[in-house]
Amino acid sequence: MLRGVSDDVNQALRDEQQRFEAALAEVNDADALYELQVQYIGKKGSVSKLRGRMGKLAPEERKAFGMAFNEVKKAIEASLEGRKQAIAQAAREADLARIEDLTMADTMSAVGSIHPISRTRRELARVFRKLGFDVVDGPHVEHEEYNFDKLNIPPTHPARDMQDTFFVNGEGGVADSRLVLRTHTSPVQIRTMLGRKPPIRIVAMGTVFRKDDDATHSPMFHQIEGLYIDTHVTMADLKATLYRFVSAFFGADLKVRLRPSFFPFVEPGAEFDMECPFCPTNAAGEKLPHCSVCKGGRWIELGGSGMVHPKVLESCDIDPQAHSGWAFGFGIDRMATLLHGVPDLRLLFDGDVRFLEQFPC
Ligand code: DAH
Repeated sequence: MLRGVSDDVNQALRDEQQRFEAALAEVNDADALYELQVQYIGKKGSVSKLRGRMGKLAPEERKAFGMAFNEVKKAIEASLEGRKQAIAQAAREADLARIEDLTMADTMSAVGSIHPISRTRRELARVFRKLGFDVVDGPHVEHEEYNFDKLNIPPTHPARDMQDTFFVNGEGGVADSRLVLRTHTSPVQIRTMLGRKPPIRIVAMGTVFRKDDDATHSPMFHQIEGLYIDTHVTMADLKATLYRFVSAFFGADLKVRLRPSFFPFVEPGAEFDMECPFCPTNAAGEKLPHCSVCKGGRWIELGGSGMVHPKVLESCDIDPQAHSGWAFGFGIDRMATLLHGVPDLRLLFDGDVRFLEQFPC
């Protein structure tokens, strides 16, 4: 009878092992594998339970059964481990197959940066806003009348020459005015004065176009225009504003100088220079003569300015007896090259990433 018990238990052990192997063949993922493990050799697993029947065996049979039990359990454990590895390997292979090309360049695009001209524009806007100026905009395609006539630039003026101006095909819409690519930002003065009444305090920045193309000129460049119209405005206000602006922009106490000059839309007109902020100095703070920027001249030419011509005020229905004002205009590109130490203006417009990358953020 005892022999029978031993046979039964051994048979049951073999049966469980077979059932296990059959079930294992169906298992294809780690979760199911774990379930199988619990089901057979877990604490209450079917194989583990057989161990409890050892007590019913004759003492001399227990050893043989114990060895058989351990063998089966080890074999099951080894099978589980083998399967586990196989499942992990298959998952790895599936993963690798999913990524088609491990050498593929990553798809994260490089972070761009703000162009030095845009940065300069933003900085100019910041400084002039602080000084109480509105920042306004004007179109690149402009009426010839706004670009020239209303600015007291008569049809015979050389600036209107085909050599300088890009004319645009199409109707102007304003009193037969032809269309041009604006040659300067000064027409924004006209648009502003036609659109609002004094006191006016604006700056306008943007792209301007001239048929110039050589080492120091680009057919597309950038200007900033300033306009201040009120009662009793004088050139002293102009000089003070330019001084405040230049000092704030370059972060140093820099003098400004006005030199008599001619522009049709101002009277009197002046070119304005600023003290060179780049001159090397000695220990005592005295400027040394050899400066790569001003070439020892101590001054840097910035642009044109003057008191707005009475004819310009009249062309915009502003009474020159009641109001006066000043205007200025200068190139932004030069400011950017000065500010960032760019040796050649054309680098700004080439769009070469190797250059632009030098201006991060
Ligand atoms: N528009 C002039 C130019 O492009 C610059 C200029 C000169 C603007 C004198 C002004 C000014 O507002 O008063 O050369």
